[in-house]
Amino acid sequence: MTIPVRQLKSHSGETVTVRGWLANKRRSGKIGFLQIRDGSGVVQTVISRADVSEEAWEEVKRATQESTVRVTGIARVDERAPGGVEIQATDFVVRSLTEDYPITKKEHGTAFLMEHRHLWLRSSRQRAALAVRSEVCQAIRDFYYERNFTLIDSPILTPTSCEGTSTLFATDYFGEQAYLSQSGQLYLEPACAAFGKVYCMGPTFRAEKSKTRRHLMEFWMVEPEVAFLDFEGAVRLAEEFVGYLAGRVLDRCADQLAVLERDVSKIEKVTGSFPRITYREAIEILQKEGKEIAFGDDFGGEDETILANAFDQPVFVTHFPVDMKAFYMQPDPEDSELSLAMDLLAPEGYGEIIGGSQRIHDHDLLLERLQQHELPIEPFQWYLDVRKYGSFPHSGFGMGIERFAAWMCGLGHLRETIPYPRMLYKIYP
Ligand code: 4AD
Ligand code: MG
Repeated sequence: MTIPVRQLKSHSGETVTVRGWLANKRRSGKIGFLQIRDGSGVVQTVISRADVSEEAWEEVKRATQESTVRVTGIARVDERAPGGVEIQATDFVVRSLTEDYPITKKEHGTAFLMEHRHLWLRSSRQRAALAVRSEVCQAIRDFYYERNFTLIDSPILTPTSCEGTSTLFATDYFGEQAYLSQSGQLYLEPACAAFGKVYCMGPTFRAEKSKTRRHLMEFWMVEPEVAFLDFEGAVRLAEEFVGYLAGRVLDRCADQLAVLERDVSKIEKVTGSFPRITYREAIEILQKEGKEIAFGDDFGGEDETILANAFDQPVFVTHFPVDMKAFYMQPDPEDSELSLAMDLLAPEGYGEIIGGSQRIHDHDLLLERLQQHELPIEPFQWYLDVRKYGSFPHSGFGMGIERFAAWMCGLGHLRETIPYPRMLYKIYP
């Protein structure tokens, strides 16, 4: 019977068959040690020449790395074996022979590995990182489902910008100009009046001409939006959300974090309430550190790292100058030059993982802001409608899933946290 490697432990003593790919082979004289990966795990198979037919032994000799293979044998629980179980083979077949597999055990450069991303996915670190991503996505859905949010899938093809016009990917839509979505937020806000608490999760696109370890052209974002939630409520929701996700990763991804050699004590600190500073205080911290930065300047990647390093938990930066942020942000009632905006900066140099705000709910103020930002009114008419027909205060935020996953995994670059990264000038494979 074909058994997934993951379930082998409960078949100890039975004759089992495993189908998969040969991850590694060692042979010493009349005995072979083969690591077979089937997608659910990797199992060590011991093949002794005396136990198998002549044909099977020839197959052992011929098998190469990443050939498709099938082994039959007796499963044995053995704490010393990697994964805690081993197969003592009685038969072995090569079903598809691999020749010249490009990724060998020697060190390869990242450019080479990225060219072979479709094969690199098979490597243990890549599998670990993508399994963490998968768990994070499931945890996101569970978090919002458990709290009675309704999933509102937002469109990918849109007629407007949400986060500034400089990073839009434009495309032709039957003779009209369309853009790939930068954020689902504008579509969530109207849905709040239908469902109260909503969220979306999907790919978003930014033509950012920046080649940094924190930027992808296509990344996934989760965005909650809640009716009658004020700024304080949004900050609390973000805090609870990030703590929940970190807890899930710790709980369910211990094996993957071990493969990635992640220092889990760093993740264990991601719980409870997080420190908060205002934008003004952040500028003061940076100036004290000797940075040449003035009130009104945006943070660079290095600035975010300096700020985050001042704390061992994620830190909220709040109350940014109105001019620095998107058109839809509610002004601070105590200082109309500031907006009720927040960024959450992750520790260890992972930068901004969340951006959010309370939204403007006054129709005329929103109209004024659209004009100040030199955005066309016509394509935003439907968005203004939300303020016309039963307006309500509301808040929300967006979290970049790759940034969060990279932080959990302790990876230096976002590209390993998405199966097929889209980076500056790179769209292959
Ligand atoms: O701060 P941003 O631009 O906020 C928005 O898009 C809001 N409309 C969200 C909302 O309030 N509903 O982006 C949100 C997050 C960032 O904090 C970051 O984690 C991630 O999206 N992000 C990127 N991740 C990878 N590559 C990029 N180029 C990213 N740009 C933003
Ligand atoms: Mg932002």
